[in-house]
Amino acid sequence: MAELTVRDAAAKVMVALDKPDADAALRLASRLQGAGCWMKVGMELFYAAGPTVVRELKARGFRVFLDVKMHDIPNTVRGGARSIGRLGVDMFNVHAAGGLAMMSAAMEGVREAVEAGAAERAPAVIAVTQLTSTSQAVLNGEIGIPGGVEEAVVRYARLAREAGLQGVVASPHEVGAVKDACGNAFLTVTPGIRPKGADIGDQSRIMTPAEAVRAGTDYLVIGRPISAAQDPASAFDTILKEMTEG
Ligand code: C5P
Repeated sequence: MAELTVRDAAAKVMVALDKPDADAALRLASRLQGAGCWMKVGMELFYAAGPTVVRELKARGFRVFLDVKMHDIPNTVRGGARSIGRLGVDMFNVHAAGGLAMMSAAMEGVREAVEAGAAERAPAVIAVTQLTSTSQAVLNGEIGIPGGVEEAVVRYARLAREAGLQGVVASPHEVGAVKDACGNAFLTVTPGIRPKGADIGDQSRIMTPAEAVRAGTDYLVIGRPISAAQDPASAFDTILKEMTEG
């Protein structure tokens, strides 16, 4: 594998801004201004601060992944995707469990926003396969999907590709299998990243940043190891070091 520069490593990191309001989120973003990473806006922040905080992050030069995990009937998802298309984010996601028609509707919504001139370019649309907090026992015993986690993830990844999506959210453990099934250009966005010695929290299928890079992931979603650190900028730098030295 070609050596990863610090700049390339930074562009692969999506920092989860899991904060209760815009002030807290923008304070964390300020600590990482100029670092070259993405910002991931999830439901905690988006439900509280809405499109305004997304526009502010874009104005500050960050690429933004809007992690809203849409899962609804196709018509509703089409409308939601159209609204997100107008917002000018770089990436957003839907649940693959919504099925082929729902994922295709998301692509149509985005296309409609671009065709209406409301968006300069379409955001990448990716699908959540199985949450990284989902263990084998939960998959089989609670959600009711038989078989292995990897098998379930790959099946959803193929479906997402068939619907025209650009990639999936999965655990770093499944990157190889997803790339084998869907091709190397199909994006993998992987939460469940824990630097050496970090608290696992509620995550289940985890890897260190260096292991995730070696596994071939395109984007590493990292939340609490950065956002809960005393010094988020230095936690970010340590992660970059792990990624480039790994
Ligand atoms: O704090 P932590 O690093 O565990 O944060 C991971 C982030 O990735 C959270 O914002 C979570 O919502 C998100 N995520 C996830 N698993 C998925 C999809 C998104 O953990 N499958």
